[in-house]
Amino acid sequence: MGLHIGSVAPDFQANTTQGPIQFHQWIGSTWAVLFSHPKDFTPVCTTELGRAANLKAEFDRRNAKMIAVSVDDVDSHKKWIGDIEETQKATMNFPIIGDEGRVVAKLYDMIHPEANDTLTVRSVFLIDPNKKIRAMITYPASTGRNFSEILRVIDSLQLTDSHKVATPADWKDGDDCVIVPSLQDPKELAERFPKGFKAVRPYLRITPQPNK
Ligand code: BEZ
Repeated sequence: MGLHIGSVAPDFQANTTQGPIQFHQWIGSTWAVLFSHPKDFTPVCTTELGRAANLKAEFDRRNAKMIAVSVDDVDSHKKWIGDIEETQKATMNFPIIGDEGRVVAKLYDMIHPEANDTLTVRSVFLIDPNKKIRAMITYPASTGRNFSEILRVIDSLQLTDSHKVATPADWKDGDDCVIVPSLQDPKELAERFPKGFKAVRPYLRITPQPNK
């Protein structure tokens, strides 16, 4: 069975550039971002890892840990890290999983044979503290990921977990939200949204972001 939003993220043991881990234990009580790289010493991946490392404080602020995986071994990753740090002006501050046996790549369906039967595509899994997959994003090997978008999705997930809102197109933290259609009780609407809301349509109700 394939992985879906809402599935428990498969657990695994692996060696990483920061030592061995048991994935669920490593996640602990935080959010996690697991993202795959087709191969070490490749140009797009090098820029992505540098960008992610330079954004670590933003992930920390959201209580989210990053972990990368690439289908080479840890010794290769460690050599590659030297290049990443030098060329991207970054300090690698999160682990990269050694996945030369493609265990993690297969567990998370990161190899798409019609694209390439040995290398992974660029998968991103956003996993919550209950170890549930909350979002999955897939890019081809030739397209570097947008890490600001990954932060934006975490913001949306964390907001919608705590308030009965959803986030509209191109939303970013601080923008107006939409009230979930299932919320119809006038008393609850008044309590939850003291700043009010604008009903553009009965199903399209815009409200200021409730936690701002
Ligand atoms: C890269 O990371 O640059 C890359 C990897 C595989 C195919 C194409 C590009």
